[in-house]
Amino acid sequence: GKEVMNMNNQRSNFSGKLGFVLAAAGSAVGLGNIWRFPYLAAKYGGGIFLLIYLILVATFGYAMIVSESAIGRMTQKSPVGAFNILGKGKGHGFFCFGGWLNAIIPIIIVPYYSVIGGWVFKYLWEYLTGGVHRVADDSFFSDFISNSASAEFWFILFTLVTIGIIFAGVENGIERVSRIMMPLLVLLAVIVSIYSVTRPGAMEGVKYFLIPDFAHFSWMTIVTAMGQMFYSLSIAMGILITFGSYMKKEVSIEGSTSNVEIFDTAIAILAGLMIIPAVFAFSGADAAANLKAGPSLMFIMIPKVFDSMGLGQFGGIVFFLLVLLAAITSSIALAESAASTFQDELGWGRRKATIVVAVIMLALGSLSSLGFGVLGNIKIIGMDFLDFFDFLSNSVMMPIAAFAICILVVYKVGVDRIAEEVTVSGKFRRRKLYNFVIRYAAPLFIIIILISSILNAFG
Ligand code: PFF
Repeated sequence: GKEVMNMNNQRSNFSGKLGFVLAAAGSAVGLGNIWRFPYLAAKYGGGIFLLIYLILVATFGYAMIVSESAIGRMTQKSPVGAFNILGKGKGHGFFCFGGWLNAIIPIIIVPYYSVIGGWVFKYLWEYLTGGVHRVADDSFFSDFISNSASAEFWFILFTLVTIGIIFAGVENGIERVSRIMMPLLVLLAVIVSIYSVTRPGAMEGVKYFLIPDFAHFSWMTIVTAMGQMFYSLSIAMGILITFGSYMKKEVSIEGSTSNVEIFDTAIAILAGLMIIPAVFAFSGADAAANLKAGPSLMFIMIPKVFDSMGLGQFGGIVFFLLVLLAAITSSIALAESAASTFQDELGWGRRKATIVVAVIMLALGSLSSLGFGVLGNIKIIGMDFLDFFDFLSNSVMMPIAAFAICILVVYKVGVDRIAEEVTVSGKFRRRKLYNFVIRYAAPLFIIIILISSILNAFG
């Protein structure tokens, strides 16, 4: 009735398809693509990892992203409200829990994400002010993150930028920023990857990354690729439900979500092409060992690569600017989703919701940031704060949140109602695939991921 209409009128909206695609792609393309994907791909099999990743994106990723956008748009709510409405009746408690889980994940991710964003800021600053050698020093990274004041400064700066954009609102803030940043990001990614693959000795890396070799396959290849896919597409984190609720009815869900997937995957592949061949070119026979560096790959190996190349300073500036843009568009999506939950569920105004999100970011983020410095001797289940928050959100909460979405779709909403929402505007070509994945494959696989990632952490 009237009340619903009023609410719809007040709700923030994207201006059209491009607005949704840019914001959702902005949320998807982030540190996950540029910092996480290449080191995981390198570590878990190269080409075979890439192949499995692509298959998963086209099946699982697709089904999850369509489900979330449709749920958001049909309810006009962020996750808590959406689960509450759709989960009425039997099992309501479980669904409410699922909704809150989806809503809380971004609140846990965004603080530590901003800590890493702060590191990126710092590196960009270093390159701008001339230090191509200094950042390449073996101990530069560890000295920096253990210097609490400095790491905290850059983290706070990153947080303030994120919050500033959220304050500006959906169309003026998020959409406008994405409109400018995303094309620039693609351009920079293309430049850096061309530069990287044309270095002498880089071809071995290109081959390793692009050509599947089953000798490198292991069970962990699938599990890791699956976890990475969820993280990278921002699935089961409340984001896509929230963004779906800002999506107008005339925008095609299948069309726009496919665009998001293609965009996200393309940037991940470009990032692989930027980083893996560059490391091969730089370290020759030691490449395989260096690529296993894991999380520090981007902050320790990459600066060495730039240091060894002509135009290294320019390369460093372009590269870290690119990473910074990607990180900002993701952090605003995370913070927006958190603020939106407070607005919808607690009835707060946008200003208050945003301020509270900022306070949470500063508090939890400081723990993560200082966890490498003055709080260094505090460990939670054997992990630094940052690793702990990452583990909690991505390995424990996220699979359960994803599972709740599948169950909600299958038992409460029904795949037909999803199909109805999808076909309000546009086609639903992969409907059969969707039904199969969401009913059987996804719930089963999600449980497997949950168990194996927990075992992995303690194993
Ligand atoms: N998808 C982002 C990335 O790949 O960096 C990270 C992210 C953003 C995760 C937003 C979750 C999220 F809600």
